[in-house]
Amino acid sequence: MDHKKQTKKRIAVLPGDGIGKEVIPQAVKVIQASGAEVGFTEFDWGADRYLRDQTTVPPDGFAMLARDFDAILVGAFGDPRVKTNIHAKEILLGMRFKMDLYANIRPVRLLNAALCPLKGVEPKDVDFVVVRENTEGVYTDAGGVFKQGTADEIAIQEDINTRKGVERIIRYAFEYCEQHVKLDGSPRNKVLMCDKSNAMTHAGGLWQRVFKEVSAEYPKITAQHMYVDALCMQMVHSPRQFDVIVTNNMFGDIITDLAAGLQGGLGMAASGNIHPGRTSMFEPVHGSAPLIAGKDMANPFGAILTAAMMLRHLGFTKEADKIEAAVLEAVRLKKTTQDIGGGLGTTEAGEWVAKRVAS
Ligand code: NAI
Ligand code: MG
Repeated sequence: MDHKKQTKKRIAVLPGDGIGKEVIPQAVKVIQASGAEVGFTEFDWGADRYLRDQTTVPPDGFAMLARDFDAILVGAFGDPRVKTNIHAKEILLGMRFKMDLYANIRPVRLLNAALCPLKGVEPKDVDFVVVRENTEGVYTDAGGVFKQGTADEIAIQEDINTRKGVERIIRYAFEYCEQHVKLDGSPRNKVLMCDKSNAMTHAGGLWQRVFKEVSAEYPKITAQHMYVDALCMQMVHSPRQFDVIVTNNMFGDIITDLAAGLQGGLGMAASGNIHPGRTSMFEPVHGSAPLIAGKDMANPFGAILTAAMMLRHLGFTKEADKIEAAVLEAVRLKKTTQDIGGGLGTTEAGEWVAKRVAS
């Protein structure tokens, strides 16, 4: 049966490991409370399954996800018992690479001034989006090690940048800028490309040329450039200047953790891994946080905001708005976990938001 023809959207749920297994049930509960017409199917891919039967991704797993589901909601992968991290690599990077989810969209929004470690920074000062290339760069794991374990050891990690890959992510950033407004309703109008083309001249040169070409097609949008090191300083010094940032896989990974610091920490950050027109995957930015796993301490709001992002992507705009408003209210009233100053457990915080959404 072709599920995609049904009106009820089908969501594959992969809680994964560690706190993923605690925050994702809260996100699911909140989606249910929103009344969005969706059905869930849960999968046990993760460390427990791998340790039990050596399966990371069942045969045909990615094809099944693409065929039978409209979206995928993921927790996190990573478990100290799996030293190689092979399951995380095969499941998470597998989804990103094999399903070609080339645009990793990470909105950075400060919901309340109290959550930002910087002095005098208000919600209106932090409202930008990082568009991270998600299928190339140094994360393709191309390279090799020679003479391992000897004094002559050589390790090579290749940085793969294709014309097609660079062009589509830069174009995505401009399209995103055209089609989205800020939280206060004002239009987005700047795209900044972040690279290290002064030192990494081959890859940087390609990004520079493509950015110049693509930006010329969007005359209403201001095109800007910043080296990644300077950008880190500016993000802390004056985050207000940023609107849409486009960058490669590794820089996107790094600067979004820094950016998460501006919005109250990793527990607050949401993301989507998107290929327009295909089944896309949504996950909080944080990992499995083994140190706090199983203690009902993890902040579920990153996962809940991720759920809202997924619903918006699927066309459930009203439901997404309701969820975001409820999280905002929870933060305002300190109905939160400890990491952002409240006194609730993971489940209580999720339940508070779910009740609010349902009311
Ligand atoms: P992490 O994001 O799991 O945790 C770093 C620290 O941030 C935690 O110790 C915790 O203090 C805090 N934190 C993270 N999420 C939180 C939440 N929801 N609520 C409250 N505090 C939170 O990153 P770490 O420690 O580098 O990696 C742990 C494992 O997760 C590793 O196995 C790593 O490979 C994996 N990982 C997986 C990711 C994914 O599946 N997308 C992303 C990042 C790491
Ligand atoms: Mg990361």
